[in-house]
Amino acid sequence: MQRMEALKKEISLLPFLKVEGKRKLSGHMRVSGAKNSALVLMAASLLTNEVVYLRNVPQLTDIDVMSRLLRAIGSKLSQDSNTLTLNTSELKLSSSHLPYELVHALRASFVCIGPLLARLGEVKIPLPGGCKIGTRPIDEHIQGLRALGARVQIENDYVVAKVISPQQRLTGVRIKFNCKSVGATETILMAATLAQGTTILENAAQEPEIQDLATMLNKMGAKIQGAGTSQITIEGVDRLKGCMHSVIPDRIEAGTFLIASAITRSTLTISPVIPEHLESVISKLQKCGCLIEYSDNTLSIIPRESLQAVDITTSPFPGFPTDLQAPFMALMTTVKGTSKIEETVFENRMQHVGELQRMGAKILLEGNTAFVVGGNILKATSITGGDLRSCAAMVIASLAANGTSIVQGLEHLDRGYEDLSPKLNGVGASITRSHSQVQKTSNLTTKTYEDTQNLYSDTEVA
Ligand code: UD1
Repeated sequence: MQRMEALKKEISLLPFLKVEGKRKLSGHMRVSGAKNSALVLMAASLLTNEVVYLRNVPQLTDIDVMSRLLRAIGSKLSQDSNTLTLNTSELKLSSSHLPYELVHALRASFVCIGPLLARLGEVKIPLPGGCKIGTRPIDEHIQGLRALGARVQIENDYVVAKVISPQQRLTGVRIKFNCKSVGATETILMAATLAQGTTILENAAQEPEIQDLATMLNKMGAKIQGAGTSQITIEGVDRLKGCMHSVIPDRIEAGTFLIASAITRSTLTISPVIPEHLESVISKLQKCGCLIEYSDNTLSIIPRESLQAVDITTSPFPGFPTDLQAPFMALMTTVKGTSKIEETVFENRMQHVGELQRMGAKILLEGNTAFVVGGNILKATSITGGDLRSCAAMVIASLAANGTSIVQGLEHLDRGYEDLSPKLNGVGASITRSHSQVQKTSNLTTKTYEDTQNLYSDTEVA
């Protein structure tokens, strides 16, 4: 009964955003450090017993969860604004055993298996579990670790890995991934830095976050070449030292801001960015009628009033990022013509389609391909983002809608966007964040107790 009351209270306190549509934006938006880089760089600190200083770390709930996980296994962390100091000199004896609820709360934490195995010789980590944008298996991580000489078994929802060589050290080898996986490339890259001999990774993921990881590991004394290409060579070293490293700008946040500019037909400047990380997105925005100017680490975007539909197909870097598919679809609902949007990276990443349809968008969904008939004016309503990037898409769509929208699902948004509302308000948006009773009306999403429980128990992704 008490639990029921607590859940009721939790539901009534669900936060939401009130987004006034049709406002013009103008000015400069600051891009934070990349969440996906920061998370794996935090895991990489486990490879050394010296101090690692990470600058430009965004303040996000995903970073909090990773911090709690590292603390739980004995790391000492302190944070001063956007700088994180990580000291893993004294890992707890039980540090090879990661807490279930924290790994479940954040899929990205699974990459800790690589550095912990390399440093401690054994690790027991919960399976990341199911998630909302697809099955996301971990077979590539496991096969890579086995190839490096670990015995890896699944025992009662845990992955148990142990180095079996007499020297308790992984052994360098040639590994060809069956699919391009960001997480598996990161796991094996980290593990191989302390292996004996040379590891060659083929069909490696090429995302900028992997380049950032290799840059930091090389500062720590690793010998890695080729990160950013599909073949990475890692010459194992005996130990790694501490370092200071600044996280790269978040290309997905920057892309979201570019799309916010386009959907509101407003001119914005955005920095800091590394333009090469955004080439596929910039090229699509240019094709649909946005003028984009570069100057060092700043992008200026000037959209034409009348934009044209373009097709996108998501694919691993340097292709169009799956993480921007949902925001881009929101943009396509407002342009002239029909665009074909194909999701090829994850099998269940179209959850925003139904919500956009509720706003009046005309979208035909066939499997993982959406045909978006643009040109309808979106109507403000109450909408819910079911995962991080679809929640961002809900905010983007609301900026263009007629009227004031209510956006729910902020527990997802807060995982990956630092200060999104204040940043948008700083360039002229009108977004307020409130907590209040979730009402049961025809067009307002009502959370059931089960939904609420799922919100906090599902593995979070992206
Ligand atoms: C990372 C990003 C996420 C992004 C995704 C793809 C982080 C924290 N998250 O997620 O924002 O959307 O890359 O760019 O960096 N796969 C397998 N076997 C495996 C691993 C993956 O089949 O062992 C498949 C997945 O099911 C998926 C595809 O590979 O279909 C890509 O997944 P992956 O690149 O591993 O994504 P994440 O690292 O989880």
